[in-house]
Amino acid sequence: MAISFSTFLSSTLLFFLFSSLTTAKTQRFARVISPSSLGLDQPQKLTHLHFFFHDVVGGRNQTAERVAASPATNKSPTMFGAVVMMDDPLTLRPDAASTLVGRAQGIYASASRTELGLLMAMNFAFTQGKYNGSSLAVLGRNTVESTVREMPVVGGSGLFRFARGYAQAKTHSFGMLEAIVEYNVYVFHY
Ligand SMILES: *[C@@H]1O[C@H](CO)[C@@H](O)[C@H](O)[C@H]1NC(C)=O
Ligand SMILES: *[C@@H]1O[C@H](CO)[C@@H](O)[C@H](O)[C@H]1NC(C)=O
Repeated sequence: MAISFSTFLSSTLLFFLFSSLTTAKTQRFARVISPSSLGLDQPQKLTHLHFFFHDVVGGRNQTAERVAASPATNKSPTMFGAVVMMDDPLTLRPDAASTLVGRAQGIYASASRTELGLLMAMNFAFTQGKYNGSSLAVLGRNTVESTVREMPVVGGSGLFRFARGYAQAKTHSFGMLEAIVEYNVYVFHY
């Protein structure tokens, strides 16, 4: 009887010790705070961004290059499996020499066997004015032959913290070496 009571006592003590340690760890790792402590009690803003994206796949000023492919990519009518890494300039006007507002950095990959359908995973890294240093993260599907393609904006940094919205892409011109795409981006952020 005495043995089982002391066993009960020590396991109870162990339980309390363990659960208080767990609670302490949880509190240090994450806690609920008020939105106003981050200035998030303000109404959200809706921002429209408009710029031109230059995807240069060859020549001296190449900004995008294929980094991977499947053995069947070159036989595929849609280049299925091709993965391209880009660091594409974003400019104010279609002219590549117009004001640089940022860069589209990331990956596009051919994800459809039956049409030109790209998986886009990229960040718009802005460098212009008050947006310098802020970014938007885009993850979506880009069927490049459609007139207008829409991709979700899944987040952002800097001025675009907590951003969500969408980007619409429309091909402005398409050549052997360079595609110029007009982007209209709409984001809610604080
Ligand atoms: C490369 O970019 C420079 C500067 O924008 C431009 O003057 C030149 O014509 C471009 N070269 C090619 C081959 O497009
Ligand atoms: C953007 O910020 C970087 C780092 O602070 C700075 O070096 C650069 O000159 C800025 N660019 C513009 C266009 O203001």
